[in-house]
Amino acid sequence: MLLELARRRRILFLGGKGGVGKTTVAAGVAVAAASEGRRVLLVSTDPAHNLGHLWRCEVGDRVRRLAPNLDGLELDPEQTARAHLDEVGVALRTLMPRHLSGEVDKHMALSMDTPGMHEAALLERMAELVEEGLGTHDLLVFDTAPSGHTARLMALPEMMQAWVDGMLQRHERSRHLGDVLRGLGKDDPMGRRVVGGDDEGAASRDDRIRAMLQRRRHRFDHLRASLSDAGLTAFVIVLTAERLPVLETIELHAQLRRSGIDVGALVVNRRSPTDAGALLAGRAAMEAGHLETLARALPGVPRHEVPLLADEPVGRAALEALATRLAAAPGS
Ligand SMILES: Nc1ncnc2c1ncn2[C@@H]1O[C@H](COP(=O)(O)OP(=O)(O)O)[C@@H](O)[C@H]1O
Ligand SMILES: [Mg+2]
Repeated sequence: MLLELARRRRILFLGGKGGVGKTTVAAGVAVAAASEGRRVLLVSTDPAHNLGHLWRCEVGDRVRRLAPNLDGLELDPEQTARAHLDEVGVALRTLMPRHLSGEVDKHMALSMDTPGMHEAALLERMAELVEEGLGTHDLLVFDTAPSGHTARLMALPEMMQAWVDGMLQRHERSRHLGDVLRGLGKDDPMGRRVVGGDDEGAASRDDRIRAMLQRRRHRFDHLRASLSDAGLTAFVIVLTAERLPVLETIELHAQLRRSGIDVGALVVNRRSPTDAGALLAGRAAMEAGHLETLARALPGVPRHEVPLLADEPVGRAALEALATRLAAAPGS
């Protein structure tokens, strides 16, 4: 049962191809867990947000209450990237010699559109949320962007760790060099300063740069450890029983496994009924064929099914009804 997974883990990610029902199923799982008395935070990381549409209210980039025990949040990549860069800019301006502050501004303006900037900022925000959210909520449910984007995001903590490590190493080396040069300066027989800047300022700048890099390193370590801890985190792949979503599911599963992330369940959404006319019965048979492919490729992953509903599940009452269905969803 899908809810069993939500009971046993503290972080769930819902991912899959665009349009298959990630946001809907994430909301259903969140409502079901909240109605059992757990404090749930539902976080949308898809730039094409629709938590607001689903709950018929404004959500946005600040935690707000959606239902008893249930809070929601939509991460805005643009705003997250800007806030992230502002923070980095402030840090850089305090850390760099004053005459370079124009350079810092130029660098920051260019960085906004650098490839991967939004993802890096989003990841940092997610790391923050995982750290803080586990203190304030019992369950974090992440409604993610379509597969490719999410798979890259999940591989990113490792890359960022390596990046921060590289920066730390380079920083160590340049600090060593700085010490040597400063030493040279002192020994200059003419008493001239060989390197600019005062020693005191440079040394405390060094310490602050180091501390900042180490804080980031710690944050990515924590995120990576949380994501790859199968007792804490599970990924749920949502799909429809059609050819492309099935192929994408198999691919996403492989990518997540490579990033060390446990895929706890598959949710097959919008299953066609067999008893509602020839057209839908035909589709149901086609779906069964695709599900056989899925079962052959991923035999060990529990599978749950959600029927095609006559109405789109929008609004609290419909989501509660969906939550009840999920609680009773047949699984394998
Ligand atoms: N079981 C279902 N039956 C009928 N409509 C559904 C079902 N699940 C989702 N939908 C509808 O399908 C559309 C896509 O769902 P959504 O959750 O937004 O997908 P995603 O987040 O994967 O892009 C929405 O209009 C939603 O209301
Ligand atoms: Mg969505």
